[in-house]
Parts: sequence; C-alpha cells; structure tokens
Amino acid sequence: MSPDAATEPARTLAPFGRRRSDVVSTEVSGGYRIVTVRDPSGPMPDAGQFYMLTAETGWGGGGERPFLPRAFSVAEANAANDGVRLSFLLEDVGPGTHALAALEPGDGLLLTGPLGRPFSMPGELNPDAAGAILVGGGIGLAPLAIWRRTLASRGVPERSLLGFRDKDHAGGMELFRCSEVRLASEDGHAGHRGYVTDLLATMLDGDSAGTAVVYSCGPPGMLEAVRAMCEERGVEAELAMESPMACGYGACFGCAMPLRSGGYMRLCVDGPVVRAADVETAMVEGAGHR
Ligand SMILES: Cc1cc2nc3c(=O)[nH]c(=O)nc-3n(C[C@H](O)[C@H](O)[C@H](O)COP(=O)(O)OP(=O)(O)OC[C@H]3O[C@@H](n4cnc5c(N)ncnc54)[C@H](O)[C@@H]3O)c2cc1C
Ligand code: FES
Repeated sequence: MSPDAATEPARTLAPFGRRRSDVVSTEVSGGYRIVTVRDPSGPMPDAGQFYMLTAETGWGGGGERPFLPRAFSVAEANAANDGVRLSFLLEDVGPGTHALAALEPGDGLLLTGPLGRPFSMPGELNPDAAGAILVGGGIGLAPLAIWRRTLASRGVPERSLLGFRDKDHAGGMELFRCSEVRLASEDGHAGHRGYVTDLLATMLDGDSAGTAVVYSCGPPGMLEAVRAMCEERGVEAELAMESPMACGYGACFGCAMPLRSGGYMRLCVDGPVVRAADVETAMVEGAGHR
C-alpha cells in the first residue's frame, strides 16, 4: 500500500531514460564537495526530489564497484539559457561517491531524474502554519537548501537549524544563501555544542508549536529524534529519508519500508519526502553514513 495519492504534492516527472550532463564546476566545501552540472534537456526539479547519478567514466570499470547508479538530492537548481544548472552536495563515503567527488569540469555525469516526491507547502500540512522550521544534519542539509530558497521565493517565513558531528563532517552551508542559520555541532566547533535537536526543542517549546511545520533531513538517529519530538508536541513534519536504492523509480522494491497504517511504501516513489505521521520510526536499515 502507498500513501494516499490525493494528499500528495504535485511532482515533476523525469524524462524517460538516462541522459548526459556535463560538469561545470566542482568545489570543496568543508568536508563535502559541491558538484554543479548543466542538464541540457531535463526539467526544473522540485525541492526534495533526487537524481540517480553515474560518472560517465571510471564506473564499474575492471569489474569493480560501483556497478549501480547512486541517489543524490538536488541541493540547488537554476534555469539557464543552455539548460538547467543542478548542484549536488556529496560526502565521499564509498566507491560511488568517491568517483563522483573526483569529477572535474568538462567530465560527463549521467543522470536520471528528477525522481520522487517533493516537500509540501506548510499550509498543506497545517492550515494554521505561520512558517517553516528546517532541521538538517550533516549531508542532509542538501534538500533543505533548495527548499529554503523555494520557501523564501514564495514569501514563506522560515528558520533553519543545522547540526554537524565535527569539522570533517560539515560543509555546504553556502548553498543555503542565508546568513541567519542557527548551528549546532557535537564537538563545539560551530554554534551550540550539542545536537541540532536541542535547538529544535527550544524553538518548539517557545513560541511555535501550534503554528509550526518542521522539515528535516539527516542521519536516521537525528531524523527519529525529530519525528518523536514533533509527534509528542502534535507538530506536523515531513522527513526526507534515505534507504539503499538500486533503481530509484519503483522497479526493484529494494527501498521498501513499513507504513504505520500497515503495508509498505517504496521510498523512491512514495518518498523520499514522507509525512512523519505515516511512519512508526525513521530508523531505516542500511541507511546513514558511518
Ligand atoms: C534519496 C536519497 C538522497 C540522497 N542524497 C544524498 C546527498 O545529497 N548527498 C550525499 O552525499 N549522499 C546522499 N545520499 C546517500 C548516497 O546515495 C550514498 O552515500 C551513496 O549511495 C553511497 O554510495 P558509495 O558507493 O559511495 O558507498 P557505499 O559503499 O555504497 O556505502 C558507503 C556507506 O554509505 C552508506 N549508504 C549506502 N547507501 C546509502 C543510502 N542510500 N543512504 C544512506 N547511506 C547509504 C552505507 O551504509 C555505507 O555505510 C542519498 C540517498 C538517497 C536514497
Ligand atoms: S529503489 Fe528500486 S523500487 Fe525503490
């Protein structure tokens, strides 16, 4: 069973097939890398959607991993005369992300997308919503960066809270294009020493619980803390979740995860953005960077 289609936000559909984009820039950002490509024929994605990416060369060569494409949230998208500029924020954690992090301007990047279900506007989740609270952890800030800019362009007030484990697992904040981001870090190198959920608890216990809508992406433990915190306080929330994805478009069932109401959803087509109330837990087997 899938979540009710009637409550789903409209989504941009991917053109059929895999297409070639070319890398226009790469940039080191703290412990992460920002790769920007020119997608000559794809549509503008919606915030929260993702792409399946494959480097054109050095992928599966010599019988070695990676064989399959890898899933990445779009972190920024801008229309240009010669196509759409898409930026991805990568953390090098294994063979696929390593090959993508090694891309140089002019290299080819094969992509399928945009895929999946995007974020919903706050008013669709809570008719009394006064604004949005964005809560990101580590590399999970990627989909929130494009969502923040979308909300700002539609005049929706938002507040952003970002948390990082330590200096080596931090970066990409320039994608937020906003100076008013509240930070937390477990090692105390930036902002509040502790968890980003400490900042969220203070915010929800202060002025905002009845009129807040929370959007979150990050490691499973953090997402689960956000889910539980919102449930306890009756706050509507959407979570951008991850699971290992082999195809990205509903064919392999490798990303199936249980629904609170019974049955399963495929996270690649029924997510990756899910209503927090639709799941019992945000802990997903096999997801989350070590
Ligand atoms: C919808 C979606 C959006 C994503 N967006 C981003 C993004 O914007 N930036 C980014 O750096 N990563 C993102 N990821 C995670 C990214 O797909 C994985 O890091 C990547 O597939 C790892 O491949 P690898 O070959 O480098 O490493 P592997 O050897 O395959 O894995 C290395 C480590 O990463 C973990 N891992 C593998 N696949 C996933 C996964 N799908 N989700 C979480 N952890 C995984 C493994 O458990 C292992 O610990 C996203 C995943 C999904 C499903
Ligand atoms: S990744 Fe294949 S069905 Fe979701």
